[in-house]
Amino acid sequence: MRTLLTILAAGSLVAHNTEDTSNLLQHVKFQSSNFENILTWDSRLESSADTVYSVQYKTYGEGEWLVKEGCQQITRKSCNLTMETGNLTEFYYAQVTAIDGEGQSATKMTDRFNSLQHTIIKPPDVTCIPKVRSIQMIVHPTYTPIHAKNGHRLTLEDIFQDLFYRLELHINDTYQMVNKW
Ligand SMILES: *[C@@H]1O[C@H](CO)[C@@H](O)[C@H](O)[C@H]1NC(C)=O
Ligand SMILES: *[C@@H]1O[C@H](CO)[C@@H](O)[C@H](O)[C@H]1NC(C)=O
Ligand SMILES: *[C@@H]1O[C@H](CO)[C@@H](O)[C@H](O)[C@H]1NC(C)=O
Repeated sequence: MRTLLTILAAGSLVAHNTEDTSNLLQHVKFQSSNFENILTWDSRLESSADTVYSVQYKTYGEGEWLVKEGCQQITRKSCNLTMETGNLTEFYYAQVTAIDGEGQSATKMTDRFNSLQHTIIKPPDVTCIPKVRSIQMIVHPTYTPIHAKNGHRLTLEDIFQDLFYRLELHINDTYQMVNKW
């Protein structure tokens, strides 16, 4: 029995080695900033140009993978899943299947993703208005793709009630000199 098991194990190792597709697809992950959730991945360096990718996603706790329309049999290595993964209280997975020109395929899945936990906050747009004795700095609200129940887009300030900004003012000598004239 032990011999048989060993042979089986060796056999499956050999079978695995002959079509190692593990590097057909790498680094399948969400890149999220300001609640814009983009799935990205890499291919192996020598991968042929005829490799195509298809994306599926699912909500944590649901059994079924859903097909992401617009990201099937594509050659680019990113897919915008902002709308599909937009619920702040839900966790999501996405997976990519790569098929190369020789018919070899590989599928890889992301870690569990939640935009509230994982998104990166980008600096807001700021307008500076120089006055005679002061400078007015206006921090513009940053709109996210998240919609409230009434249909309005939420700002970062709506989502993070305790959001605060650190403003730095760098004095530009050139600007000051010009101002003196
Ligand atoms: C991704 O989709 C969202 C929602 O449709 C959109 O607001 C955003 O501009 C898209 N981002 C890119 C990089 O296409
Ligand atoms: C987000 O998901 C929660 C839990 O499933 C649900 O109760 C809520 O209605 C969803 N929110 C939106 C905006 O779809
Ligand atoms: C100061 O502002 C001028 C005009 O915008 C710009 O050309 C210059 O590079 C700035 N200098 C510094 C030190 O940032």
